[in-house]
Amino acid sequence: MVNNVEDTVLRPAVDIDRGSRDVANRIAGTILGHNPNKKRSKFRKAKGATLKAFHSTKLGNIYHADSLDVMKAMKAGSVDLVMTSPPFGLTREKEYGNVREDEYLNWFRAFAKEFHRILKDSGSLVIDIGGAWKPGAPVRSLYHFKLLIMLCDEFRFHLAQDFYWWNPSKLPAPAEWVNIRRIRVKDAINPVWWLSKTEWPRASNRRVLQPYSPSMETLLANGYKAKLRPSGHDISNKFSVNNGAAIPPISLPFLIQKAIAHICAIAKRKT
Ligand SMILES: C[S@@+](CC[C@H](N)C(=O)[O-])C[C@H]1O[C@@H](n2cnc3c(N)ncnc32)[C@H](O)[C@@H]1O
Repeated sequence: MVNNVEDTVLRPAVDIDRGSRDVANRIAGTILGHNPNKKRSKFRKAKGATLKAFHSTKLGNIYHADSLDVMKAMKAGSVDLVMTSPPFGLTREKEYGNVREDEYLNWFRAFAKEFHRILKDSGSLVIDIGGAWKPGAPVRSLYHFKLLIMLCDEFRFHLAQDFYWWNPSKLPAPAEWVNIRRIRVKDAINPVWWLSKTEWPRASNRRVLQPYSPSMETLLANGYKAKLRPSGHDISNKFSVNNGAAIPPISLPFLIQKAIAHICAIAKRKT
């Protein structure tokens, strides 16, 4: 039985930076392989059965189970971070199954209720959510924006920040609009919504610093003349202080690559 985040944290298996280790350490349950279209998931536990951990360390457990079952076994207000990449509302169904964009909000409500219940007041909900196309037309669905609004209006989450995972290696799709008629370009972004239960989730950007860019290194070495920019922005002397590392932007290749490497290393050891 999972009671609190200390029961469910992961021990970092590879050398990752402090920021992504912190993220990985606060994952409250990593859930694999489930088809949301099936009436009863193959991972759904039998009534009364206890959840069996797929992987355990003294720091916590990973469950291979229906996440609703896992969350229902958790105490209210016990979790620092829920991080999920749910099946997206795609028109073309994936092997693991997904509901379509027009049914998406109804499907998501049961998860949203549990996310809100298990999170601490200082906790965060992070959702990687790819966009989708409207069936049969070269226009985008608004389903993930509607999801965000539902989570904030109906479930009282706050949008702490919106991140964007830039993934230029996505395949060109839908073929009809992108490759055949050539009237749209390739998608290359997943929005990642960082939601919080209150306006003040526990957070520190000092945990996710990244190396300075070469141009910033040059600027720090050669100095910078404080002045008013053409935009009217006043760049003070403080800009040239060397703080040892840069605060990352909301585009995510850096952190995601490290988190994925960590998760793959665990999965590899188990197979
Ligand atoms: C969108 S995929 C994740 C894809 C991955 N983020 C990526 O970009 O390749 C969603 C995953 O959630 C799993 N899933 C769906 N419903 C679930 C549930 N109720 N509990 C646990 N896992 C679930 C699916 O089996 C699938 O593996």
